[in-house]
Amino acid sequence: MLIFPESRKKILVTGGAGFIGGAFIRNLLMTTQMKIYCIDKMGYASDLTSVTKTISLLGDKAKDRFTFINSNIADKIALEKAIDISDPDIVVHLAAESHVDRSISNPSIFVESNIIGTFNLLQSLLNHWENLTKERKNNFRIIHISTDEVFGSLGESGYFVETSSYDPRSPYSASKASADHLVKAWFHTYNLPIIVSNCSNNFGPWQFPEKLIPTAVIKASTNKNIPIYGDGRNIRDWLFVEDHVDALQAIINKGKIGESYCIGSQNEKSNKQIVQLICKVLDKQRPDLAPHSKLIKYVSDRPGHDHRYAIKPLKISRELSWKSKSNFQECLENTVIWYLNNSTWIETVMQKSNYKGERLGLNV
Ligand code: NAD
Ligand code: DAU
Repeated sequence: MLIFPESRKKILVTGGAGFIGGAFIRNLLMTTQMKIYCIDKMGYASDLTSVTKTISLLGDKAKDRFTFINSNIADKIALEKAIDISDPDIVVHLAAESHVDRSISNPSIFVESNIIGTFNLLQSLLNHWENLTKERKNNFRIIHISTDEVFGSLGESGYFVETSSYDPRSPYSASKASADHLVKAWFHTYNLPIIVSNCSNNFGPWQFPEKLIPTAVIKASTNKNIPIYGDGRNIRDWLFVEDHVDALQAIINKGKIGESYCIGSQNEKSNKQIVQLICKVLDKQRPDLAPHSKLIKYVSDRPGHDHRYAIKPLKISRELSWKSKSNFQECLENTVIWYLNNSTWIETVMQKSNYKGERLGLNV
């Protein structure tokens, strides 16, 4: 169990109904005694099933520790109210529009949530922090969750590190980069105690079915083509979501105010490789439909498709003693099996959001 100081009793998680937020809240429920406040606008990718399941397993005490606030952080008044209600000691800021393809089709909502939302949060939290008692003020932290995509696109060699230049290339990554700049400015100008994390691609159960891994499993298991953009040679650095959660705990407990930490597990795979691995797991689980790789279809490329992301997580490993613990192959296999066993959840979230598995993000 993680021990937090007395002055760290209440945590506000923005975007807690999303994929990573859900994993983070489940972990808080299971490993701490903190009072957890979750603010989320309940967008298309939001779902609280995993959190409510965990609460019912843990019982009434856990129920009393969790408060959900259905609000949009771009709405200043609603956000201020949420901060008043939650009176946080720690804020973990995950709320963001998160899908590159959707940012190509509809960038304005990315500006609203990721930039205006972050600006509102900083202003409201500055006011909150300035009015805390000395001890609470000293222990207060805001962890701003960013992405490796703000650093742009790598060639065949090299890595992103904390000092890499910002070079965002999609509306999504540009909005996240803007948010990072605001956050850093509020630290330098107003001394607001903020720490930034830049993480690589996450995977695991409960991820909304629009991103590569759930898309591949869902398409292949329903005998539909698995779309690979371009030539499939684009590379991502995959991290199991529970490892990301561990890294966030390490940052809350040991991170240095004003610093950034890059999070990744040095687990680079091309899109072609990752889809082939998924197909192999499916062949084992559903031999009657093997080989699933026959369903792979190369489709037109994502506009402005970044070639490669790769993190060198030396700083977080040296300074916070964090490194990813999970076995990638085992976690990928379990994730594929989880999607196979949870078709009702998939249908429910897709129906709720009116997402039918169509191709997103073509700007022509
Ligand atoms: P997600 O889309 O699954 O969840 C995001 C949540 O934020 C959703 O529930 C959504 O409703 C909420 N949200 C968005 N705008 C909001 C607003 N204006 N007000 C209130 N709530 C709002 O995304 P995720 O994969 O869980 O990502 C969470 C965070 O982590 C994001 O900031 C993302 O940029 C970052 N990140 C994600 C990855 C990844 O691989 N998924 C990697 C690195 C960083
Ligand atoms: O790197 C961190 C980022 O990872 C996060 O900041 C984002 O929130 C998260 O969505 C993710 O962005 P990507 O664009 O890398 O993820 P996505 O799953 O959309 O795509 C992964 C790769 O797979 C990318 O190269 C595009 C490709 N792809 C994606 C889909 C959905 C396909 O080839 N086919 C597909 O159907």
